Amino acid sequence: MNCQKHLFDLPEDIHYLNCAYMAPLLKSAEQKCTEQLIKRRNPTNISSEHFFSEVDLVKEKFAKIINTHAKNIAIVASTSYGFSSVLNNLTAKPNGNAITIAEEFPSGYFSLQKWCHSNNNEFVVVDSESNSSVGKRWNENILSAINEKTSVVLISSVHWMNGVRFDLKAIGSKCQEVGAKLIVDGTQSVGALPIDVDDYHIDALICATYKWMFGPYSIALAYISEAFHDGTPLEESWMNRTNSRDFTNLTSYDYNYAPHANRYNVGQLSNMMTMPMLNESLRQIIEWGPNNIQTYCASLTDPLFSFLDKMGVGIEQDEYFCYHLFALQLPDSVDQSSFKEKLAQHKIFASSRGDKLRVSFNVFNDEHDIEKLMQVIEMSVMSKTLI
Ligand SMILES: Cc1ncc(COP(=O)(O)O)c(C=O)c1O
Repeated sequence: MNCQKHLFDLPEDIHYLNCAYMAPLLKSAEQKCTEQLIKRRNPTNISSEHFFSEVDLVKEKFAKIINTHAKNIAIVASTSYGFSSVLNNLTAKPNGNAITIAEEFPSGYFSLQKWCHSNNNEFVVVDSESNSSVGKRWNENILSAINEKTSVVLISSVHWMNGVRFDLKAIGSKCQEVGAKLIVDGTQSVGALPIDVDDYHIDALICATYKWMFGPYSIALAYISEAFHDGTPLEESWMNRTNSRDFTNLTSYDYNYAPHANRYNVGQLSNMMTMPMLNESLRQIIEWGPNNIQTYCASLTDPLFSFLDKMGVGIEQDEYFCYHLFALQLPDSVDQSSFKEKLAQHKIFASSRGDKLRVSFNVFNDEHDIEKLMQVIEMSVMSKTLI
């Protein structure tokens, strides 16, 4: 796979290493949105069919990416909406526990903590407790924390701050063994890293779409497994009833929810502008393939790792590492404040956190972005020596 920058409208002079914050828009998705906006000027252009057609296509495509059937997909407003939808229907074990990871993203953290409070379960936060082999130790600690008392594990597929990849397959098997449910926040990996909900025994997977799926803001996609298909949704949207597609008959009130995961769709899910954007970006991801995206990111970052190695800052590229998102430990010789200044001067956009830099790459990046980052690291070492 080659660089795909031509499909985006990013300014030529910036080095955007922050897809984990927000992805740039695809030109083709932007075009879909503009076309729909213009169409929306005249309501007679919008038929009842338009309320469902793009939604159905988005569900089909997302299902393909995560290896399931479209009937298991709900469209929600945010990950927090998805977590609450699932947790509200989750039965707690008496005096059980619920597990998450240290510094989990707040939407998942608070959803689980609240559930524990309401269900009299212990809230367990698992950390790596190690400065080396962090991914390995962290995964081991999670596996040993899961026991017969565990009701649920809520965990990100990839940690949003440092890029540690959690072994969902092993965690899913352990959950299955002890009768716990596994809820995954896939926001920081789905689209850029393969995932298989069936193979990993995931019970629910919730992903915001505006990062690795190049989607618009305000839409998240949720895989909700059969175990929850009889549950109670957060709200009573008319669109989630079996008769909702027949606009002439809506007040023949139908007390049945649309089957499978459909009851969990957020109200007014068929946003005529943003749904076609998401449909287009998912089409593009399927064409590229998450595995190829990962391989592209790996090839891009190769020179960076050799460079850092020479500076004495090795990066553990083990099975818990992913190439689209990771935290760079800067060499001790780098002057932090001058480094931050230089990042800004050279228009490198990444997330600076203490002595670490969270960098995230995608198909719009190329070798010039990496070269510029290496130059800035080098310059920051030299300027410290001069002081
Ligand atoms: C891991 C993770 N989950 C979720 C979100 C977004 O949460 P929400 O959809 O609840 O706004 C982010 C945003 O940065 C994230 O990094």
